[in-house]
Amino acid sequence: MSESTHGMWSSRLMFILAVAGSAVGLGNIWRFPYVAGENGGGAFVIAYLACIFMVGVPIMIAEIALGRAGRKSPINTMQDLAAQSGAWGGWQVIGWLGAIAGFMILSFYSVIAGWSVAYLFEMASGVFVGADGDFASAQFSGFTGNVWVVVGWHSLFMLLTTFIAARGVGKGLETTVKYLMPALFVLLVLLVFWAAISSGHFVEGMSFLFAFKTDQFSGESMLIAMGQAFFTLSLGMGAIMAYGAYLPKGASIVSSAVTIAVLDTAVALLSGMVIFPIVFAHGLEPSAGPGLMFITLPLAFGQMAGGQLFGTLFFLLVSFAAITSAISMGEPAVAWLVEKVKVSRVTGAIIVGGLAWLLGLGSAFSFNIWSDVTLLPGRSFFDTMDFVSNNVILPLGGFLIGLFAGWFLDQKILAEQLEGTSEIVIKLLRVLMRIIAPVCIFVVFVMTFVG
Ligand code: PHE
Repeated sequence: MSESTHGMWSSRLMFILAVAGSAVGLGNIWRFPYVAGENGGGAFVIAYLACIFMVGVPIMIAEIALGRAGRKSPINTMQDLAAQSGAWGGWQVIGWLGAIAGFMILSFYSVIAGWSVAYLFEMASGVFVGADGDFASAQFSGFTGNVWVVVGWHSLFMLLTTFIAARGVGKGLETTVKYLMPALFVLLVLLVFWAAISSGHFVEGMSFLFAFKTDQFSGESMLIAMGQAFFTLSLGMGAIMAYGAYLPKGASIVSSAVTIAVLDTAVALLSGMVIFPIVFAHGLEPSAGPGLMFITLPLAFGQMAGGQLFGTLFFLLVSFAAITSAISMGEPAVAWLVEKVKVSRVTGAIIVGGLAWLLGLGSAFSFNIWSDVTLLPGRSFFDTMDFVSNNVILPLGGFLIGLFAGWFLDQKILAEQLEGTSEIVIKLLRVLMRIIAPVCIFVVFVMTFVG
């Protein structure tokens, strides 16, 4: 098929912006700095970079290639490609797992994204100007402790996501990334300069991110680094496969994937360069956990010259990053509903957004009325969604995608998708896709769950 029935990206650049939009999100700005902080900084960053380039990039190439070869929702693409390759029809499970992970991620993502939008207004209102640590913590726990407020922002964010998804690939997704992604890059660069100049602790922030300290880096840190690599590149759940289905023929997959991985990594590191110098400038804890962005940063912004303006810009950046990611999470399920159940795009988007909203209530309640409820031992509803989707389903999905593309797919199909790529790159890619990536994922899994 040369075109998808769902619509197409108008150019390779738009595809790159869309995938970068999916990849660059809360994972880079909210999650990366705090997990790096919790896992020892530099050592974690190195493990993370290795996962991105040795495992993430090959899997991303596989997802895009499978997507473009099938031109349908990941579930139907997997079914078609397995049939064409004479492989077992059960490979479809990759599509199903992904659709489920999409719901889970979108559900809790929307809650945190809602906080970001709320904090955009809080920062703008100036409540944090001159505030101290107690005030910033109280503000955050007061905010997250109020079930109505949290549910309200979650609902608003999900409504916006559903609205964009309902407008379709061209009018909805492409129009959104076309404007928000360039804006996001400009804001980020502006903030890095501001943090470097006004914090006075740029070097300390840098050495935290890049110095190789192993004391806080545990076996579980390796799994977290791998899960973070998948999460931040939106891999293992079909979002990129779905986006690949709308990529015009002839556009190079390998160079697109490398560009996207570099952009995504740059945003994560640049976010670290904004956040850690500010953290150190105020003698705060880099390992503060999920509250890092919502307690530590507003506090720091409130004490710095220009903090009200730059703090507002910061949360605007986070909100932009979040919405361009959220719209990709439901795409596999929306596309499948349109293909299989023959609903309209609008109905599909409403069903997916509605279900994810419902599931998201559990995560919204985790911070207030369900704060004592645990789903997995020791993990709240929110933590369970986060852990199961990021650290289990995404790596598992990535593992299966690598195996399928490397060993079970008719290799003519893959070669056709990678046409124009130099021989040596193809050879390297084959080794990475067939052996290195699956083995790495497998080893990390076994290490974590067995010993
Ligand atoms: N990559 C996004 C982020 O870093 C999250 C995401 C995961 C998006 C899975 C789509 C699919 O925030």
